[in-house]
Formats: sequence, structure tokens, C-alpha cells
Amino acid sequence: MLRIAFVNAKPGTAKTTSAVWLAYAFHRRGLSVALADADPGASALEWSDQVDGFPFKVAGLPVRDFHRRADDLAADVIIGDIPQIEDHAPIARSAMRWANVLIIPVAPTGIELDRMSPLRNVLEEMEDVMRPDVHTCVLLNRVVTGAASGPSARRVLTRLGYTVLSTAIPRLEVFAQSFGAEPETNTAYDQLATELLEVTGR
Ligand SMILES: Nc1ncnc2c1ncn2[C@@H]1O[C@H](COP(=O)(O)OP(=O)(O)OP(=O)(O)O)[C@@H](O)[C@H]1O
Ligand SMILES: [Mg+2]
Repeated sequence: MLRIAFVNAKPGTAKTTSAVWLAYAFHRRGLSVALADADPGASALEWSDQVDGFPFKVAGLPVRDFHRRADDLAADVIIGDIPQIEDHAPIARSAMRWANVLIIPVAPTGIELDRMSPLRNVLEEMEDVMRPDVHTCVLLNRVVTGAASGPSARRVLTRLGYTVLSTAIPRLEVFAQSFGAEPETNTAYDQLATELLEVTGR
């Protein structure tokens, strides 16, 4: 079972957008998918409502025993939309214990790169309770195609010791305006699904 959690210290880093688009990408390639909305803000649930229900399971799970309950959703791939650690530490930490793939979506901007240091402290503190085989990786997100900021952020994060996924999500209106709509096919999120299956040996 793939247990994917989108986490970040900071709000507004494209966790919900990424969780929903990736869930559709896995669903469209025939895997059973469940989306666990761990954010008390419940944006993923609201998004599902607006499309008359996602074509895969979705459940609200904004609880600090997320790690004990998320597997009840039983699917090939369970994706957690996790709230920002700085405001919802107990829920986020619970999800970090549960995940076997921890994805940190980061835009190549100073403010988001800066927040990687509090996140690093949390990752270090939690090392003993996270799964020993967890894949922790950065997803460069909201990257302006052709600008130097994307490759530069990749270099900085790699130097800091992070595994940065090869797939980067471009900054595009199609993603920015996607809340409440059905995601399109053939985007960087399909490439992300492929890469995650490769990285985890599925
Ligand atoms: N690839 C992208 N290109 C442009 N805009 C994007 C992209 N991905 C997400 N956004 C926009 O960035 C904003 C934050 O995205 P989102 O709501 O997914 O983040 P979040 O981390 O779930 O935020 P919150 O902490 O509030 O739950 C939204 O306005 C969204 O439309
Ligand atoms: Mg969100």
C-alpha cells in the first residue's frame, strides 16, 4: 500500500491541489485510490462536493490518531492532505508516522525555502517514530518554466540533503484555478505518479 502524505510547515504550499491532482492521476491509471482530508479546513472534501464526488474514496480525518485510522480507507494508494505543521502539529505528526512517502511541496521562493529549516527540525525529531523505509522527498511546485529560480532551488535543497523529485510542477493557471473542478489529464501530476511508483519500486 502506498501511503502518501503531503506535508509542510507552512500553509498555502499547494498541498491540497497536489493531493487531489495526484489522486486523479493514480485513479486514471486504474489503481484504487483513497484521499484522506486531514485538514480541519476540509478543502479537499469541499472540492469533492463541488464535483459531485470524486470518483474515488474521500474521507475527512482531521484527527491526531490519523496514523491508526487512515489505513481503514483500504486502497492501493492512500493520499493524505495534511494541514500545516505550524498550526496543526499533532495531526501532521501523526500523518508523518503513517506515511511511507512524505512529499514536501515547495515553491522556489525565498519564503518557502526559509521554512524548510523548521521542517527539518521536525523531521529530525521524528526520525525514530517515522517508518524506517519512508521516502521523504521535495516536490518543486509552482515553478516558473525557464526561470533560474527552479534549478537554483533544486541545487540548494539537494545541497541541504533533501531528495528532490525529478518531476516539477509548473506554475500554471490550469492548476491555480482548479479548485472545485475535475483535474485535466496529461499533466505533470501524471509524471509524478509514474515517478512515485518507480521510486517506491511498485
Ligand atoms: N502549480 C500551480 N500553479 C499555480 N498556482 C498553484 C499551483 N498549485 C497550487 N496553486 C495555487 O496555490 C494556492 C495554494 O494551493 P493549495 O490550496 O493547494 O495549498 P495548501 O497547501 O493546501 O493550502 P492550505 O494550507 O491553505 O491548505 C491556491 O491558490 C492554488 O490554486
Ligand atoms: Mg489545503
